[in-house]
Amino acid sequence: MPTPSDVDIWPLLGVRILVSDIELSPIDDRTALDLGRLAAGGIHGNFLPFNTPWTRGTEVDVARNVYRYHSRLRQEMSPERWSLEFAAKLDHTLIGVQSLSAENFGTTKSAESASWLGQSWQGKGIGTLNRIAILTLAFDGLGADEVTTSAWADNVASNAVTRKLGYEPNGEERLDREGRVTVQKRFRMSRAMWDARGPELRPHTEIEGVDALKEWLQIS
Ligand SMILES: CC(C)(COP(=O)(O)OP(=O)(O)OC[C@H]1O[C@@H](n2cnc3c(N)ncnc32)[C@H](O)[C@@H]1OP(=O)(O)O)[C@@H](O)C(=O)NCCC(=O)NCCS
Repeated sequence: MPTPSDVDIWPLLGVRILVSDIELSPIDDRTALDLGRLAAGGIHGNFLPFNTPWTRGTEVDVARNVYRYHSRLRQEMSPERWSLEFAAKLDHTLIGVQSLSAENFGTTKSAESASWLGQSWQGKGIGTLNRIAILTLAFDGLGADEVTTSAWADNVASNAVTRKLGYEPNGEERLDREGRVTVQKRFRMSRAMWDARGPELRPHTEIEGVDALKEWLQIS
């Protein structure tokens, strides 16, 4: 039997998504360290866009949180519960993270996306391209029936990307954000909504490595 390749061992390592000049590729240890440094350089101003305060603390704290988080998700990957974490690069420069996670996807065909960009890369249309990339993987690659996302009501940029792509509201809840009650809005995109998007939301897209990923995650 031939020696197993990296992709035989961990099929996520073979997945790549190209959208316009953005590439999403899987996060290995080296990349997780580099993403930690990127996050330590700043992702947001005073308001916390995330559900957990992993961007608080010193630069080393933040970088370590990123490294630990991606290591933990790798350990917990299974067909029943997975999180596909991708590094986003623009012309080979690391700019952020885009993820897709799910529980019992084989049955529900429902997944949730999340993302962040280094602060200097925000507000240039890249978040929209990253979201298109992960929706392409979900719907066209993995056969999702719906993809959900959520953001604090005051996260203007995230909610703008969501609205622009045509999601529908899917409820909201009051949650604790660093000791203050804050509304989090949920949104949902069905396959029909994805298929109905306009030509301006159809940049050139390529995905590779999905067949091995589906086999590994038992997605038919
Ligand atoms: C959320 C995030 C990924 C969006 O990516 P982005 O590249 O900044 O967003 P885009 O440049 O693609 O913007 C998409 C739309 O939002 C609008 N927008 C972006 N930032 C905005 C702001 N601060 N105020 C008002 N509108 C804004 C843009 O004008 C654009 O709409 P348009 O094309 O109609 O003009 C990015 O801002 C980010 O990483 N933020 C910090 C982390 C975060 O909030 N993650 C999500 C947690 S739920």
